Amino acid sequence: MKLIFFLFEFFFCLKYSYLGVTYEGYFKEINGKDISTSISENIQGVKINLNNGFECALACLKKPDCYVATLKNDYCTLIKMCPNSSQYQENINSILFEKKIKCTKEHFNLTTTMNLTSHTNTVNSLVVLHNGDMASGSDDKSVKVWDLNDGTIKMTLNGHTGIVWSLAVLANGDLASGSQDNTIKIWDSIDGTLKMTLNEHVWAVRSLAVLHNGDLASCSGDYTIKIWNPQDGTSKMTLNEHTGTVLSIAVLNNGDLASGSNDLRILIWNLNDGTVKMTLSGHTSTVWSLVVLDNGDLASGSQDNTIKIWNSIDGTEKMTLNGHSDTVRSLAVLHNGDLVSGSYDKSVKVWNLNDGTIKMTLNGHTGEVFSLAVLQNGDLASGSQDMTIKIWSEF
Ligand SMILES: *[C@@H]1O[C@H](CO)[C@@H](O)[C@H](O)[C@H]1NC(C)=O
Ligand SMILES: *[C@@H]1O[C@H](CO)[C@@H](O)[C@H](O)[C@H]1NC(C)=O
Ligand SMILES: *[C@@H]1O[C@H](CO)[C@@H](O)[C@H](O)[C@H]1NC(C)=O
Repeated sequence: MKLIFFLFEFFFCLKYSYLGVTYEGYFKEINGKDISTSISENIQGVKINLNNGFECALACLKKPDCYVATLKNDYCTLIKMCPNSSQYQENINSILFEKKIKCTKEHFNLTTTMNLTSHTNTVNSLVVLHNGDMASGSDDKSVKVWDLNDGTIKMTLNGHTGIVWSLAVLANGDLASGSQDNTIKIWDSIDGTLKMTLNEHVWAVRSLAVLHNGDLASCSGDYTIKIWNPQDGTSKMTLNEHTGTVLSIAVLNNGDLASGSNDLRILIWNLNDGTVKMTLSGHTSTVWSLVVLDNGDLASGSQDNTIKIWNSIDGTEKMTLNGHSDTVRSLAVLHNGDLVSGSYDKSVKVWNLNDGTIKMTLNGHTGEVFSLAVLQNGDLASGSQDMTIKIWSEF
C-alpha cells in the first residue's frame, strides 16, 4: 500500500494504491450537521473505530461509489451521492469530506440556456477550441466558430464541397475538418485561414481524432483509417482491416486507437505496427460513436439503439445501456464523469453508469441529435438535424 497525503488549508489530496489500483481524490472539509437522515436510502453507515476525518476520508476514497464521507462521534458514514449545497449550508455538527473528483450531484438538472441558429442544415460535429470557443461542422458544408457569450458567429469557414462530418483540435490549436468531399482541411482556428488540405482518402472522411503524440487519425467510407503528420500533411500509416465504412474513432487512455464501423465491429489498434490488438463484437448494427470514460472504459453507440461499455484493456463487455429508441449517433463525457448520448430519437440522455439507468433525458431538439460537446465551463452542447445547436447548463 502506498499513501500520499497533502494537507492544505481546507483541502487535502489523497492518493492510495492497493493491488495495483490507484485511487485519487481531493477532499474538502465542511463542518456541519449530519445529513444522513435526509438521504437515508443512499447511506451506508460504517461504525468503526475511526478517530479522525482522515481515516474516514480514506475509507471513502477506497470505495469508487463514495462521494462524501461524514464523521460524527467516531461514526464514519460513506455517502454514495453528493448532498446539495443547501444541505451543506445547514450543517452544524459533523465533519463532511467531499471527494472533489467524481463528485456528481444526484439531482442536477440541465436546461437549454441558448439556441444557436445559423447553419442551414444538420449540425454533424462539434468541438471546443483551445480558447474555449466552439466550432461546428454541418451538412451545409461550412464550419462555424461561435462566441458562446452571446451566441453570435465569429467566423464561417468555407471550402469543403461536401458535408462536414467531423472536427478535431490539433495540439497547436489548429482546427481539422473531415468531409464528404474525401478531404481533411486544417484551419488556423484564430483567423480562419486554410493552411492545408489532406487528399488521400478515396471516400468520405467520417471521423477525426488526435493521438497522444499529436498525430491526426482519420477514418473513412473507404474502409481505412489513416494516421497523418499534421505539420506537413503527409500520411504515415494506413490501417486496413475493417470491411465496412469506419464511422468513429477514439484514443484510449493508453494511447491505442479504437475504431467503430458498419461491419458491426470495434477494433483496437496497435499503432506501432498497424495490427489489430483486439476485436470487440457485440453490437448488432453499425457502430456510430465512441468515447473514452474517465475510468478508461470505452463506450460505443450504435444503430442497434444501444450503448455498450467495454473494458478497453481486456475487451470484455461490461454493460449494455438500453433506453434510446433509435441510433445512438454521438457520445460525450460530462465534467462529473457522466456519460451523455445523443440519438436519432431526438433526445439527449445522461446515464448512471453504476446501474445502467437513465439519469436524465433532455428533450427539445425537433430533429435527430448528431453531435455533442462538453464546453470548458462544463455546459453541454448538442447539434441536430433541426439545424440548431442547444447549450444545456446546470440549473
Ligand atoms: C436540497 O436539500 C434540501 C433538504 O433535503 C431540499 O429541501 C431541497 O429541495 C434540495 N434542493 C435541491 C435543489 O435539490
Ligand atoms: C428541471 O428543470 C426543468 C425546467 O426548469 C423543470 O421543468 C424540471 O421539473 C426540472 N427537473 C428536476 C428533476 O428538477
Ligand atoms: C430555445 O428554443 C426553444 C424552441 O424554439 C424555445 O422553447 C426555448 O425557449 C429557447 N431557449 C432559449 C434559451 O432561447
